[in-house]
Amino acid sequence: MVEALNTEQTPSIERLRAEVLICGGTGCHSSNSHEVVTAMQNEVARRGLADEVRVVPTGCRGFCSMGPVMMIYPRASSTARCR
Ligand code: FES
Repeated sequence: MVEALNTEQTPSIERLRAEVLICGGTGCHSSNSHEVVTAMQNEVARRGLADEVRVVPTGCRGFCSMGPVMMIYPRASSTARCR
């Protein structure tokens, strides 16, 4: 599976414009962060940006009570309670 992610779903570093980090820690998962991950992945694909934008589930970011937490790089913007 890791190999599949590396070869098929991961944009090459040269084309990567943004990374969307969505917390998948216990607190955010209980706030349905997995649905946010799926929705974001679908939207990135729908817009034809899969080669340029990577959606990455992460571990706890330390803001559990404000979850689901999402950060976007390189803009370094963050969003809490994203639905
Ligand atoms: S579980 Fe998401 S910030 Fe802690």
